[in-house]
Amino acid sequence: MHFKLTVLLFVIGLAMSAQSFTSPNAEVTLQFSIQSGKPTYEVWYQNKPIVEPSSLSIVLDNGVILGENTEQIKLEQSTYFDQWKPVLGEVSEIVNNYNEFIFTLQQRDNDINYRLVFRLYNEGIGFRYEFPDQKNLDYFVIQSEETQFNLIGDHKTFWIPGDFDSQEYVYNESKLSEIDNNKLNLNNGIGLKSIIGPNYVQSPLMMKTADGLYINIFEAAVDNYPVMHLKVNTSNYDLTSQLVPNAIGKMAYLQTPSHTPWRTIMVSDDARKLLESKMILNLNEPCKIEDTSWIKPMKYVGIWWEMHVGKSTWDYAGSQNAQNAADAELVPSGKHGATTENTMRYIDFAAKHGFDGVLVEGWNTGWEDWFGNWKEYVFDFTTPYPDYDLKKINDYAQSKGVKMIMHHETSGSVANYERHLDRAFDLMKAFGYPAVKSGYVGRIIPRGEFHDGQTMVNHFHHVVKRAAEYQLMVNSHESSRPTGMSRTYPNYIAAEAARGNEFNAWSNGNPPMHETILPFTRLLGGPMDYTPGIFEIKMSIYDPTKKEQVHTTLAKQLALYVTMYSPLQMAADLPENYEKYPDAFQFIKDVAVDWQNSIYLEAEPGDFITVARKEKNGERWFLGAITDENPKKSEIKLDFLSPNTNYQAVIYQDAKNAHWETNPKAYEIKTLKVTSKSMLDLNLVAGGGTAVSFVPVK
Ligand code: NOJ
Ligand code: CA
Repeated sequence: MHFKLTVLLFVIGLAMSAQSFTSPNAEVTLQFSIQSGKPTYEVWYQNKPIVEPSSLSIVLDNGVILGENTEQIKLEQSTYFDQWKPVLGEVSEIVNNYNEFIFTLQQRDNDINYRLVFRLYNEGIGFRYEFPDQKNLDYFVIQSEETQFNLIGDHKTFWIPGDFDSQEYVYNESKLSEIDNNKLNLNNGIGLKSIIGPNYVQSPLMMKTADGLYINIFEAAVDNYPVMHLKVNTSNYDLTSQLVPNAIGKMAYLQTPSHTPWRTIMVSDDARKLLESKMILNLNEPCKIEDTSWIKPMKYVGIWWEMHVGKSTWDYAGSQNAQNAADAELVPSGKHGATTENTMRYIDFAAKHGFDGVLVEGWNTGWEDWFGNWKEYVFDFTTPYPDYDLKKINDYAQSKGVKMIMHHETSGSVANYERHLDRAFDLMKAFGYPAVKSGYVGRIIPRGEFHDGQTMVNHFHHVVKRAAEYQLMVNSHESSRPTGMSRTYPNYIAAEAARGNEFNAWSNGNPPMHETILPFTRLLGGPMDYTPGIFEIKMSIYDPTKKEQVHTTLAKQLALYVTMYSPLQMAADLPENYEKYPDAFQFIKDVAVDWQNSIYLEAEPGDFITVARKEKNGERWFLGAITDENPKKSEIKLDFLSPNTNYQAVIYQDAKNAHWETNPKAYEIKTLKVTSKSMLDLNLVAGGGTAVSFVPVK
């Protein structure tokens, strides 16, 4: 069921007093006016100002400024209500309910019409610029977008630096006035950094006001347009959009009719409401894939962590700098991870423990000099190393009921990837691979492009759309961060596009608060392939000189399967490590990855998250609770469970003396009988967590 009520109002004249509009529950208010010829908006929440008068403007490369000498010529208002079912998701049904206000505007100097469309949701607003088909605007180039978000105070902010190429940063927690990229420790393991300047940050930007409001600025449905970063004025807290340029310094090439992505401002007095919000997905187009029966959630293992911890290598010939290795004779080093034999071992492990898939990285030629040399033709995505028998492996996987997950590391050479894409997908179909993990490490070729520019956004989308034609799922790493595209193309099953667990293996890692922030930032745009489940927390187990470690307890690694939503979840550690802790491993085997319902019980960005989720096609519930570097105790009502039902609850928690740094592997497992009337005590240690499974019993 959906309906749309439309009212047409024609408003004529230059001098406009502010017009007020509200969300369906009347808690969010938008004021719109034209001030000295500039379209200007304000946002209020429960009668408190959130965004002060902020102007909206687009500058074209021919000097035309839409957003000056502008007059409002029409206002259309409507109310929209709809319910839709995501193919995979945190909930089985999503309500899309907003009030829409479309202002048709005219820029008088050049006689150009444009529209500002605002959608008011109960948890915030989305707005975008639209460029209708018209005589005076056809092909055009955007030189800059000057969208302001003028904030009211010096809010606490969780931010990462504005960077055209990478989002793989740890979050900084500071006031807006303290944002300064020059003060960051950049010895952080990120291979390619393109920081814009000292006061630029990325969105989603999560903030908290002094009086306890949570504000988030982001964007939705970024398509055929660059990513938006934000320039922060640290003295008056005004933010301005900063688009990511292409190789020749232009931002976006468009043709009418077209539009920008949605710019979003979410606000609530309850942090849980932001986690529950489906506003970003709702602002994306409905699913464009007719038959979605082949899109399936997956839990997987892989030949992956063993390379990150240095036990084996991606390359076969053991050198990362072999010149023209693709043509030269390959002399095996003996450390290659992706061998037929090792892959069969992982397939056996997956089959024994009920995993859907096995990812293998380093199976194809090219890894001897795979990045850093600006080399265009590194991989062909179809030629296996001599010790990797594609057919034998895939026959074996099929005989065991396990699917293989393909790996396409492009090393940033997207021109080369696009040239090979169809052959690469054909190979996947020939051997029954349902999904591909792609990667974009290093500088982008075509040379000069950035990961977050329009060209690359279009590339990432091209791959997802093309994959849909082949009925293949995509999990992109080092892509631009998703902005809700998984609604339209649910085969975009996950992405990395933030600092994943892998950084704990070989860099200063992810501090304990990291995973309490990601759901408020990166995950608003779609599922993340975070790769949780590391049990051997300290890398000294592989080499006594290694200081690196995962910055959580083992129990928190379990809880991440619930707090970090993704329909694609890896059990990232080595099979031999899981075999040492079979009781804890049971939770990873049991946990669901696709849900009919999710209830956020406790949440505070940077501090803690507790969520309970009910599996999609069954009656089991799972709970995940995580904390930052501070211990946390709480008492949880289990009233989300079905009434009059007895459940067996298995609780995987930190031992009393556990600590992420000094004693991370100390956990205990308790089994309790509970009902919806029970209470559950959570005792999380520093950097700790709790995972619970609830299974109905007769
Ligand atoms: C970076 C990815 O995030 C990681 O998962 C992958 O193993 C390497 N690139 C190699 O492709
Ligand atoms: Ca990565």
